[in-house]
Amino acid sequence: MLAIAREAARRAGVLLRDGRPADLGVKATKSSPIDVVTEMDIAAEKLITGYLAEHRPEDGILGEEGGSRTGTSGVRWVIDPLDGTVNYLYGLPTWAVSIAAERDGETLVGVVEAPMRGETFHAVRGGGAYLGEHRLACRGAAPMEQCLVSTGFNYVTTVRTHQAEVARQLIPRLRDIRRGGSAAVDLCDVAAGRLDGYYERGLNPWDLAAGDLIAREAGALTGGRPGERPAYDLTVAATPTLFEQLRGLLDELGAWHD
Ligand code: IPD
Ligand code: CA
Ligand code: CA
Repeated sequence: MLAIAREAARRAGVLLRDGRPADLGVKATKSSPIDVVTEMDIAAEKLITGYLAEHRPEDGILGEEGGSRTGTSGVRWVIDPLDGTVNYLYGLPTWAVSIAAERDGETLVGVVEAPMRGETFHAVRGGGAYLGEHRLACRGAAPMEQCLVSTGFNYVTTVRTHQAEVARQLIPRLRDIRRGGSAAVDLCDVAAGRLDGYYERGLNPWDLAAGDLIAREAGALTGGRPGERPAYDLTVAATPTLFEQLRGLLDELGAWHD
């Protein structure tokens, strides 16, 4: 399954990188006028679902752009064909293809392909996380005020307005915050020790499935609200020393509601 995920992500990455039309425009909008889909999101998802249908015909699929089907094997592929669409639309380099395979609610395999960085992240449950062939470990301990934490803002105005208020209260308590524009890449950057932590409200399964496994396999902790798994309400990933403190503070600041 790892080999299949890697090859599907590689092919979609090449298509997105080399096939991006110079006059790329918005094909449709989803949750709000700034939540856009391009023809390339759809083409990349078609490529991935076609590849999976050929190699894993019994498996189910959940794709962001609607390429979903019920399987019979118990395995389900969770796909974001292009995470970071707004960056892609503007020609910014931070975007990725995210592919995960899960069974019984547990992610078994995760691949995040970031072509403009020339990076492929992968993890298999219990087998560690890798950037290419290099094994990843998240950062070491640091006091919260020296931590670099990334976040994201939802496309829906009411959600992002409250998110901005949470970030305003968080900034003075951290080294700094970042807004990269791809949740999958943010999670991989926690895995690679390039961030101490990451949090966001409003993620869907395809945004986080692969990156969450990669972060955990690199030794980071991930979760949602206290006692919960990463979910739409809240996703937090951080080094083991930062995790509970950051999650507790986010809960206190109401990062899980609008
Ligand atoms: C988005 C990106 C972004 C995050 C949004 C996601 P998309 O995914 O991951 O960083 O802030 O919440 O929806 O729309 O580019 O696939
Ligand atoms: Ca996404
Ligand atoms: Ca997407």
